[in-house]
Amino acid sequence: MSTNRKEVILSGMRPSGRLHLGNYVGALQNWVKLQEEYRCYFFIADWHALTTEYQDTDRLREYVREILLDWLSAGLDPRKAVIFRQSAVKEHAELYLLLAMITPIAWLERCPTFKEQLRQLEGREINTYGFLGYPLLQAADILAYRADAVPVGEDQLPHLELTREVARRFNHIYGSIFPEPRPLLSQFTLLPGIDGRKMSKSYDNYISLGASREEIQEKVRLMVTDPQRARRRDPGRPEVCPVYKFHHVFNAPALEEIAAECRRAGIGCVQCKEMLAKKLVEHLAPAYEKRMELERNPRLLEEILEDGNSRAREVARETLAAVRRAMKL
Ligand code: TRP
Ligand code: SF4
Repeated sequence: MSTNRKEVILSGMRPSGRLHLGNYVGALQNWVKLQEEYRCYFFIADWHALTTEYQDTDRLREYVREILLDWLSAGLDPRKAVIFRQSAVKEHAELYLLLAMITPIAWLERCPTFKEQLRQLEGREINTYGFLGYPLLQAADILAYRADAVPVGEDQLPHLELTREVARRFNHIYGSIFPEPRPLLSQFTLLPGIDGRKMSKSYDNYISLGASREEIQEKVRLMVTDPQRARRRDPGRPEVCPVYKFHHVFNAPALEEIAAECRRAGIGCVQCKEMLAKKLVEHLAPAYEKRMELERNPRLLEEILEDGNSRAREVARETLAAVRRAMKL
């Protein structure tokens, strides 16, 4: 093996409809950068989507297509990264089964995401075997490519920890097959929603990654600002204002000036929002164009996924061959 082997990065997202700007600055933008330097695998976790949505799968295909559109329009490049669909690579399921043999139930039951989601989704009948196994399926996703690092949000750290424990246990019992993957936390600030809470689908306070100019302008117009700045001549407090947080991400060079002008009531919120909307439109225009182009060519989307699926399969097959050998299967 060559000494300058590129590190392997892997990450996935569940398909649950169009992505918003929070997903973009929190994850996708980071992936787009990573594909320049690493050997990247990015996949659509449609089996994971089933763990909570198994009762309603009518829109699953549509969601898969939408997330692929979002990824490609934001700049993920199938020539640089392997982009694929989890359910198209059956090796994930095989590895999941084999890892299940060595994973104590208590490791899954004590997972904070498990306990928390059970509480949150109470009454939705997700107390299933599949749901309990969610983090182990994730471990299989990661280990099937022997990934070195996994870009994830803070909420996913327990799953990474479980992955490392399972890898260690496997290596201990059957011999060293898996590296222990490390998390890569993206350093971006959380983007608030237009109401100032966390940007989230369930709060209906989001701006879509694929929003048109008009949608962007309208959403920005609706954004809350410093609640104490009732009149134009009142000085504002940028540090509590969601609009300002957006400037921080999308209009960084003008940040200090905006803060100063806001504090001395030199600019009004309407004007401040107009500046932001302009920046957002500029920033998202290439993605918007790209999306239009891709939407005109549905066959191309399918081809990209087919190609990614088969490249992923090749690698996962090799890992599973090594795993079976190690386990004397
Ligand atoms: N659980 C992840 C999430 O909800 C999605 C996911 C599934 C994932 N498999 C993965 C992320 C493997 C990283 C690596 O965001
Ligand atoms: Fe927020 Fe801008 Fe208004 Fe200041 S001027 S409160 S930063 S919208």
